[in-house]
Amino acid sequence: MRSHSVLFAALGIFSRFSYALNAIRWVDCAEHVPVPLQGMNFTSPLPSTLHCGQLDVPMDYSKPIGGSNTITLGFTMYRPNNSQGLINFNPGGPGQEVASYSWEIALNLTRASWFAGLEGYDILAIDTRGWWSSNALNCSLGNWTLSSSLPSDEAGFNAFQASVRAYAQTCISLSTPPGIVQYIGTREVVQDWDRVRAALGYDTMHHFGISYGTYYGALYAHTFPEHVGRFALDAVYPAGVSNVDLISLQYAALDRSLVRSDAYCLNDTTCPLHSQGKGAILEAFKTAVDLAGPSGSESTSNVTADDVRFFVGLRYLVGDPDFAGLNDALYEATQGNWSLLDYSKFAPVFTGAIVPITQTYCLDYHIDNNTFEGYSNILKVGAESDPLGVKFLFFLVLHALCTAWPYTAASNPTVPINASMVLVTADFDYNTPTELATIGWSQAPNSVLVDRHGDDHGTYNVPGPARTAFIDFLATGNLPAATNQTFVTIYEPGSQRDPIPDPYSVPVGVEAGDM
Ligand SMILES: *[C@@H]1O[C@H](CO)[C@@H](O)[C@H](O)[C@H]1NC(C)=O
Ligand SMILES: *[C@@H]1O[C@H](CO)[C@@H](O)[C@H](O)[C@H]1NC(C)=O
Ligand SMILES: *[C@@H]1O[C@H](CO)[C@@H](O)[C@H](O)[C@H]1NC(C)=O
Ligand SMILES: *[C@@H]1O[C@H](CO)[C@@H](O)[C@H](O)[C@H]1NC(C)=O
Ligand SMILES: *[C@@H]1O[C@H](CO)[C@@H](O)[C@H](O)[C@H]1NC(C)=O
Ligand SMILES: *[C@@H]1O[C@H](CO)[C@@H](O)[C@H](O)[C@H]1NC(C)=O
Ligand SMILES: *[C@@H]1O[C@H](CO)[C@@H](O)[C@H](O)[C@H]1NC(C)=O
Ligand SMILES: *[C@@H]1O[C@H](CO)[C@@H](O)[C@H](O)[C@H]1NC(C)=O
Ligand SMILES: *[C@@H]1O[C@H](CO)[C@@H](O)[C@H](O)[C@H]1NC(C)=O
Ligand SMILES: *[C@@H]1O[C@H](CO)[C@@H](O)[C@H](O)[C@H]1NC(C)=O
Ligand SMILES: *[C@@H]1O[C@H](CO)[C@@H](O)[C@H](O)[C@H]1NC(C)=O
Repeated sequence: MRSHSVLFAALGIFSRFSYALNAIRWVDCAEHVPVPLQGMNFTSPLPSTLHCGQLDVPMDYSKPIGGSNTITLGFTMYRPNNSQGLINFNPGGPGQEVASYSWEIALNLTRASWFAGLEGYDILAIDTRGWWSSNALNCSLGNWTLSSSLPSDEAGFNAFQASVRAYAQTCISLSTPPGIVQYIGTREVVQDWDRVRAALGYDTMHHFGISYGTYYGALYAHTFPEHVGRFALDAVYPAGVSNVDLISLQYAALDRSLVRSDAYCLNDTTCPLHSQGKGAILEAFKTAVDLAGPSGSESTSNVTADDVRFFVGLRYLVGDPDFAGLNDALYEATQGNWSLLDYSKFAPVFTGAIVPITQTYCLDYHIDNNTFEGYSNILKVGAESDPLGVKFLFFLVLHALCTAWPYTAASNPTVPINASMVLVTADFDYNTPTELATIGWSQAPNSVLVDRHGDDHGTYNVPGPARTAFIDFLATGNLPAATNQTFVTIYEPGSQRDPIPDPYSVPVGVEAGDM
């Protein structure tokens, strides 16, 4: 810790009395290596720009800190000399590991490229509470694995809910301090962020949030408007959307992504169905669903129609879609080779990845109608937005999980924000459909909307004019100007967004985010 930073931190503590602040404990990073980096060999000493800290905060903010109402947050910082300000970074999840990002920057590892252009800033990476170095919950999945389809009848629904409740009970029984499971929602996370900001001695905080990091960021901006610096929200997930709308919009986005895979095949001479022309991938999907055994028309395999749909909706098209992989898998299946669609091997991976998300997501998520009829209605209405029949959708999985989570949000208000932020979306983002960014923009009317024309969940790793626009905003505070180009359209506050383009009209390739 350099002396001027110690002074800044100390001034921060003494200059504000709004919190009975606990001081940050700076710790030796070498003894607090984030989980994803454990086992790597680092040069010694670690870079002087890398700092690791802890801060005690109340578990339940409605009560004073102390005793079993105390939890410890873990965070890291990349701190250059003469920092120009504080940027809080969050990659989403919820619950994704965060602390390793400062290490990536300080050591110039692969993901340092996400922050190119922001090297002059303090970059703060806080593991959100209940996760990783911030008082991680202890939960056990036991031998529970999710199947490749969601329950459709009441008995199946009840059995599914029983598994969810059993899992939740492991979190409640195994985690400490007692009661923590109901205090790891976004409501608490934004309070934590403000405590860390204040303890660092900064009056304003900038924010670089991706995916669920945009949801945290929006609630912070709404709750602490006086401390909001430059907020760049990439792949916007807004509050205030009904369950039915959220799920219907994601179905529409999923179907658009499958059409993009067809557009990709048209452009890819190595695609096995390239010569078949437009629509070949959509046809192959239908054929694979139809052939899939053992109840399918060709029982050469144990891969079911639901397994095929699962791989489209939850494996190949999620995140940064693997169009080439999907196109190969569908083609191979139509030739009787089902090896790329074998759910049995993937089930534990998928279960381990999605179920823990509930721990925070369900605390934030309001169930509009928590009856079996309400759930069935979502399946029915959702299907109307899914003419291609992919069926399996991750907002729907999360919804189903939350119907049995012991703690869910009592309401789902919109989150109006006056600040001038930059919201970033991509036309063919399936995880956070671009319509959600339009909804977020309507709640933040002084903000600029950057619409990247291309694929992927998030623009942080897609070099080009859309990324440049929001990184420049973080670096300079200048809101991007309106523009209308092949790979980006930027809308100033008060302007009207164009309809989502036809998936075949936006070129595919590296510039569209396809690596
Ligand atoms: C780290 O260094 C040790 C000793 O030099 C070596 O045995 C090990 O393989 C290295 N690990 C990695 C991940 O490079
Ligand atoms: C930052 O400041 C420290 C101490 O003042 C100095 O040793 C170091 O070389 C500086 N680093 C850079 C990159 O300028
Ligand atoms: C960081 O790594 C990238 C690519 O690996 C390289 O181009 C760049 O020069 C490195 N930056 C520094 C400051 O070493
Ligand atoms: C899963 O675990 C439960 C409880 O430990 C046990 O009753 C059940 O038989 C197990 N099921 C399988 C398929 O292993
Ligand atoms: C999780 O469980 C392990 C082993 O039972 C225990 O050592 C650890 O303290 C627990 N962690 C929390 C946060 O409760
Ligand atoms: C793929 O797209 C690029 C860029 O739009 C274009 O130059 C190329 O000709 C296309 N290739 C095929 C096979 O359509
Ligand atoms: C299907 O699964 C059963 C039981 O797991 C196995 O006996 C059979 O060989 C499998 N069939 C194929 C075609 O993989
Ligand atoms: C099936 O496809 C996989 C993956 O492309 C490949 O490795 C394997 O050789 C194929 N099997 C047959 C029998 O063609
Ligand atoms: C839940 O949804 C069902 C089906 O749409 C409807 O019949 C029922 O009245 C709803 N219940 C509540 C409490 O809104
Ligand atoms: C709202 O934002 C505008 C421009 O961004 C600013 O001029 C105004 O003071 C803000 N109003 C409030 C109540 O914060
Ligand atoms: C952008 O350009 C396209 C055609 O090139 C046009 O259809 C669209 O209306 C323009 N949008 C804006 C916001 O100017």
